[in-house]
Amino acid sequence: MPSDPGSTGPVAVDIWSWSLAPSFVDIADALALLSGDERDRAHRFLKDIDRRRYITGRAGLRRILATYLGIEPRAVRFGYNNWGKPELDLADRSSLHFNLSHSAGEAMLAVSAHAEVGIDIEEIRPIEEDIASHFFSGFECAALAALSDGERLVAFYRCWTRKEAFVKAHGAGLSVALDSFDVSLETGEGQHLLERLDRDIGRRSDWALFNLDVVDGFCGALAVSAAGRDVKVHYRSRSARSANMASMM
Ligand SMILES: CC(C)(COP(=O)(O)OP(=O)(O)OC[C@H]1O[C@@H](n2cnc3c(N)ncnc32)[C@H](O)[C@@H]1OP(=O)(O)O)[C@@H](O)C(=O)NCCC(=O)NCCS
Repeated sequence: MPSDPGSTGPVAVDIWSWSLAPSFVDIADALALLSGDERDRAHRFLKDIDRRRYITGRAGLRRILATYLGIEPRAVRFGYNNWGKPELDLADRSSLHFNLSHSAGEAMLAVSAHAEVGIDIEEIRPIEEDIASHFFSGFECAALAALSDGERLVAFYRCWTRKEAFVKAHGAGLSVALDSFDVSLETGEGQHLLERLDRDIGRRSDWALFNLDVVDGFCGALAVSAAGRDVKVHYRSRSARSANMASMM
């Protein structure tokens, strides 16, 4: 997961967002962009809504990455690391990093030429059981317990998306123990939301962890392997999510 070691300037990360709602996309056009293994996966979804969202997500991913690479969306080739993280399978473009997240009909994508990225969005829904104690560290559980009932649900999702974004950026999936690092539950501006990191996972100062600006009713976070550099986040499609992105998809 190294950052680009040759550069000392800021790490630039583009954030793209789009709707996975059926009205935003011609599903046949989207399916035509997918590879054979992506189509096989699409056909394995039991629910039509999940299949359509997967197809729309992968088609959007291909269309956006294709603009960076200067190739056709169908020509984008993915490889996967040992934990299933998709990467670009282009030897001469190995420095273009990306990560996709989707939840309840919304998709967000982080793209950077400079550093590994991980992104997570989640729709804020009521939680029926004590999920926090199963997934969060002692520090995070204590921070959550100290909040009022009215604050706790959104703080839960802040914590969840920050942890998930870090794990996704790291690349080793859930083999990264969820109690090996702490994230802040504060609303938090800036890039310093990673509070602690076990040494065997890496150096805390190498990572930047952000709150993301997401649509109402959702929480989102971005993690960047920035190696101490500043990170500049550029929102590329938020204002165009209804009209222009529909034609793009
Ligand atoms: C698969 C996983 C990477 C994320 O799952 P998720 O949050 O349900 O889903 P998201 O929408 O955020 O991310 C899925 C996308 O991430 C990418 N992805 C898949 N495996 C990945 C991995 N190992 N690392 C990074 N990204 C990965 C893919 O593009 C995938 O989209 P696709 O399947 O449409 O291609 C994994 O971390 C997981 O299974 N998490 C389970 C949830 C959990 O226990 N979280 C604890 C947080 S406290």
